Amino acid sequence: MCGIVGYVGHREAGSIVIEGLSRLEYRGYDSAGLAVHRGPGVFETVRSLGATAELTRQAKEEGFELGGRVAIGHTRWATHGAPSVRNAHPHISYNGRIALVHNGIIENHAELRREMEAEGASPSWWLSDTDTETLAHWIEHCRPRGGSLLDAVRLALGEVVGAYAVLILDVPTGELIAARRSSPLAIGIGNFEVFIASDAIPIVEHVQDIIYLDDGDIVQVEPRGANEVPNVRLFNLAEEGQVERQAVRVELKVEELGRGGHETFMMKEVCEQPVTVRDCLRGRLTPGDSPIALGGLEAAWPHLLRARRIHIVACGTSWHAGLIGKHLIETLTRIPCEVDYASEFRYRDPIVGPGDVVLAISQSGETADTRAALELALERGATPVGVVNVVGSSISRLAGCGIYTRSGVEIGVASTKAFTGQVTALVLLALGMAHSLGTLDRGAYEELKAELDTVPDKIAEVLENLGPVLAAADAHTSARDWLFLGRGVSFPVALEGALKLKEISYAHAEAYPAGEMKHGPIALVEPTCPTVFVLPGDVHYEKSLSNLQEVLARSGPVVAIVTRGNRELPEGVGHVIEVPTTHELLSPLLTVVPLQVLAHRVASNRDCNVDRPRNLAKSVTVE
Ligand code: AGP
Repeated sequence: MCGIVGYVGHREAGSIVIEGLSRLEYRGYDSAGLAVHRGPGVFETVRSLGATAELTRQAKEEGFELGGRVAIGHTRWATHGAPSVRNAHPHISYNGRIALVHNGIIENHAELRREMEAEGASPSWWLSDTDTETLAHWIEHCRPRGGSLLDAVRLALGEVVGAYAVLILDVPTGELIAARRSSPLAIGIGNFEVFIASDAIPIVEHVQDIIYLDDGDIVQVEPRGANEVPNVRLFNLAEEGQVERQAVRVELKVEELGRGGHETFMMKEVCEQPVTVRDCLRGRLTPGDSPIALGGLEAAWPHLLRARRIHIVACGTSWHAGLIGKHLIETLTRIPCEVDYASEFRYRDPIVGPGDVVLAISQSGETADTRAALELALERGATPVGVVNVVGSSISRLAGCGIYTRSGVEIGVASTKAFTGQVTALVLLALGMAHSLGTLDRGAYEELKAELDTVPDKIAEVLENLGPVLAAADAHTSARDWLFLGRGVSFPVALEGALKLKEISYAHAEAYPAGEMKHGPIALVEPTCPTVFVLPGDVHYEKSLSNLQEVLARSGPVVAIVTRGNRELPEGVGHVIEVPTTHELLSPLLTVVPLQVLAHRVASNRDCNVDRPRNLAKSVTVE
């Protein structure tokens, strides 16, 4: 939701923090801010609307010095208070003793404010509309007489309800305190310097061994002399004394963080899919009749094989992958599988317990609703499994076992390679379970594995023939309304195509099972409303073809995603986009790619900010 970065060390703290914030803009970018410690009792802040480029411009305009040895910074996705400079972080406590940046939501901020005002706090303390500013006042309000910042933070956070990843700069001493609950925070300890950030991306170009904080963790970083290592101490609210946390090696090259010559991160990530799907298969898709190698699932394997029911919980694109997962699991293993929006699952008192498996799908591994759904499942005794991209993320650690999709860093807010990574992981899961259960005959098993092995090259083929997709996008760029239709595993693909288009081009787009057209949506068909059919040569082809003809009969423009060599399309289909043939269950890995490119082209034609669409953020770490 927001990105936060802190630095303590001998280099130019302000510059390092701004650079770090620019790597986190996919988390939020409606405003940004920086505080630099100048020396005992002296600090300066600069804040701006927009992202870090505007912050840098503002700093230059104000002659703001980026020097200093301690700094904290923030890039915001507004939750409380409109995007504005006054609501931008850092926020300062009423007595000027601390500056604070925060990612999350303080749910009981109003009660805390009432408590402070009842004890004499003046309304004039509040200069913004944010919950974060209340937290800054609250920490100082809790500081015991003569107490340290660490004392104040421990007392204050004990009363806070909500999610936070927070960096607090102590103005008198330059000490930095970091703390987290539900919102992620990572730390890198280098030579004479310490980096703290919402995730590893701003840190790995400096330090590759990353500590991911646990809930309740508090870190105290005391700056020392220029050539001395800062003092770093780790605590946890629930424990006395210091705690230990293991670092994980994060292999991430800085060039992975660039656009690689593409116009947008999203297009770069679309084009990476032949490689990322291959990476997801590597070492897992074993040859011939041997089992699928999913080492990360060892602990849950017996539970999966004898599961009464598998509940998939996810949000957005990951939920679409989950719908495909249902088809894969039920078709190949005959184990019942339900798919829920995580935000629905967690509040509907679901029928889940021991004997069930709850499978959480998440690219970021930080989505609040998905994490909460998994926590509920754990409380009810179900077995947790994660299908996650970000190593060490909250959901992957909460699940304790699962499959990493290995899609690499996904910066574009619209998820693309993570989706095909999730579907690939779900294919491996369903195949592996079918092999163990014997629910798939050996021939079919080996055939499906062999076909899966060809998918990365087939995705590359799709990417080499984008002409028809671009033509379809150009023809319909001005359309205000779109329909996406598909049956079976192609219906979740239609949902994904509609989501991609709406979230980056802001056109209205909705998806239905093609068989649903007659039950209302066909009323939308008119010459200005293109209908995209996801129509691979599978068992549903004939039925979907009838639906396509019903659209043509009402002068609705049609874009058809079909299997190469398909010659049975009626006259009048405006744009035909071919993908290579593959097994029906694997077709989403191919048919989704033209829809990703279609959305990207329409959005680009409309001069939308593809990588940072309005109102969105990459990781929704608040409810
Ligand atoms: C996908 O294009 C969206 N950006 C969004 O729906 C995303 O899939 C959703 O927020 C879930 O995120 P997660 O996979 O990180 O949990």
